[in-house]
This record gives sequence, C-alpha cells and structure tokens, in this order.
Amino acid sequence: MTFKLPIYMDHHATTPVDPRVLDAMLPYFSQEFGNASSIDHIFGARAHEAVEKAREQVASNLNARPEEIIFTSGATESDNIALLGVAEKMAAKGDHIITCVTEHKAVLDTAKHLETMSKTVTYLPVDRYGLVDPGDVEDAITDRTILISIMAANNEIGTIAPLKEIGKIAKAHGVLFHTDAAQAVGHIPIDVKEMGIDLLSLSGHKIYGPKGIGALYIKGANPKGKVSPVMFGGGHERGIRSGTYNVPGIVGLGKALEIAEKEMEAENKRFRKWIKQMLEAFQENIEGVVLNGHPEKRLAHNLNVCFPGIESKALIHLLRNDVAISAGSACTTTSVEPSHVLKAVGLGDSDIYSTVRFGSGRFNTGEEIEHCIHVVISGSKKLRRVSG
Ligand SMILES: Cc1ncc(COP(=O)(O)O)c(C=O)c1O
Repeated sequence: MTFKLPIYMDHHATTPVDPRVLDAMLPYFSQEFGNASSIDHIFGARAHEAVEKAREQVASNLNARPEEIIFTSGATESDNIALLGVAEKMAAKGDHIITCVTEHKAVLDTAKHLETMSKTVTYLPVDRYGLVDPGDVEDAITDRTILISIMAANNEIGTIAPLKEIGKIAKAHGVLFHTDAAQAVGHIPIDVKEMGIDLLSLSGHKIYGPKGIGALYIKGANPKGKVSPVMFGGGHERGIRSGTYNVPGIVGLGKALEIAEKEMEAENKRFRKWIKQMLEAFQENIEGVVLNGHPEKRLAHNLNVCFPGIESKALIHLLRNDVAISAGSACTTTSVEPSHVLKAVGLGDSDIYSTVRFGSGRFNTGEEIEHCIHVVISGSKKLRRVSG
C-alpha cells in the first residue's frame, strides 16, 4: 500500500492547501509582513504589489477586470455583501429577490433575514436533478425585482446551473444576477462576461487555497453603484469591504486560481474516470444504488449516491479510519435535519439518511480510489447483514 489512511474524499467541504500555494504565501507572514495600505514605505508597497498581483490572477480566472474583484473572508461574506448590499442599494428600485431552494445557507439565511426587513423573496423549486428552470426564473420576475441569486454548482449533489440562460434573462429584464460560485470557480470554466453575471462569490478553501479568504466579483468600474457596504471602516476595497488586507490569504487565493486555470481540465478528466469507476462498482455490488443530481450537468469530482437500507452515518462511522466522506453538506452535519437539497430533489427521509457524498481531489490517487471502492462495498454489505 503506497498511500496513507484515512483517505480524504470530502473535497466539497474543504481542500488541503496546495504546497505551491503555501510556498507562495509563506513570505507574507513574517518577511513581507507590511500593511498593504501603508504604501509610503517599501514594506507596505511590496504587500500592496502582492495583493494587486493576486487580484489580477483572480480576475483572469473569471474573465473579469482586476478592479471588479473585492477581497472578502470567504463565500459566506461575499454572499452576505451581495444580497444585503444590493437590497439596500436598490431599495428605491424594488424589494424583490429571486433565489432557489437548494442554495447554500449563506444565501438562504441571508434571504430569510431580508424577509424580516420587508423584502420579498421567491424561492424557486428545482427538478429531480437539482436544476432550476430558467423559464421559472423569468416568470418570477416582477417590476419590483432587483436581484436573481442562483448558485453555480451545488455543494451536495454537484448539479451545475444554466448560468448563461439565467444571465440572459436577468439582462433582458434589467435585473442584477448574482451567483454563489464557491463550488464552481476553479472546478468548471466560469466567464462572467459570457454568462452575464453581475456579482459572483468565491472561496479560497474550496480550490486548494487557504481558509478565511474569498472574493466578490462586482461588474463594472463603480461597485458602489450596485452594492451598499454592509460593514464600515477604513474604506478598503473601494469602500465595499473595509479591513486590513489578509495578504498571505490573498496571495494564496491568487496562486490557487492561477494553478486551477492551468490544471483544471486535466484534473477533471481524472475525476470523471474515477467517479464513473466508483459509481459502476457500487451499482454492481450494492443493491439499489441511486445517483443523486444530474447525470451529466455535474461537477466532475462529485459523487452523491443513495445506498437504500444503509444508514449513511453508520457507514461513515464504520469507515472512519479508511476514508473521510460525508452525509451531506458540512455546514449542516451538526444538524439532525435531513438535507434541504436532497428534500428539494424529491428524496424521502429514509433515502436522505442513506445518502453519501464523495468528493475526489487533486491529491487522490487511483490506488486510493480503489481502496475507497473496496471498503465502501464491504462496509455496506456488513451493515446490510447487521440490519437485515
Ligand atoms: C455553495 C457554497 N456557498 C458558500 C459556502 C461558504 O463558503 P466559505 O466557507 O468560504 O464561507 C460554501 C462552503 O461550504 C459553499 O459550498
């Protein structure tokens, strides 16, 4: 065996920092520690230069302009700024927001908060694959609609949304289009111009960058024309996001996206092969295995499957020392509530509690995948024997 146990297969929850990213970050902790706003001296100027280089790397990945990138602490903060900021800025124009039932809590709970502030929110349904219908988006638009927020790729089932179609509709109706792309950027090609995206949230730790760093793309030269700030201070990031720059984190995010831009395609090819191999092996050896999410319009590294009659938490616990997998999104694993995403695609409670999410990653190997397949099959058989 040439690999170490347990094998990490939960890359939707978070990813390890790529050693190349870490190398790029390290000087900015103690050597190049300057405050990126204190540009009158060399220490600050060098930190500022590093931040601006990272801004270019992030922008390049999205086909955006560097000045359209606002650094934040992660996708949660970016989502909050997008929804709360647009709601406040556009209050004179309208008070209606369209989103979707399978969004991450960072969007859903922000939308719920807006409802307590007299805003109206439409939560669109999805089909059994987790796809939102662009026709439903268009039908939901009223003359009070100010924002459409639809996630790019789902963190549980990996379904990829029809971004371009939604972008077109938003533009035709003069409504802003935000997408939570925490699971998509660095994993699928994103072109904000081609897709008609006005605001986009992304996160460092989903793409082999550090935790606690992210970005919000805001289209155009004047972000304050679309978004009101939700926190106040020194006026950093064009007044949208005050606070001293997290220079090592920003450098890491930039490097992570530079690597993703070059390696994503080859990586996805590998993931597709592994995920197919896993699904076929599970279906051949475990009775009744069902794939959740869309068969094609899905993230290459995602596999979300239902093992009927097997309690996913029991399987995950049994395989604890072999492979790290998940029963749903990390953000809801402390909750006993069944996943809102699996509910939305029509699964009943017993199927939801039998669902496992696998997320392969950059540093997995073919041997690890084979071991994962082997232990999941033997573990499932053992649990079926116990309960049957
Ligand atoms: C779709 C989606 N949105 C938002 C987030 C939150 O991102 P962050 O951890 O950077 O705040 C996550 C992470 O779980 C996610 O998967």
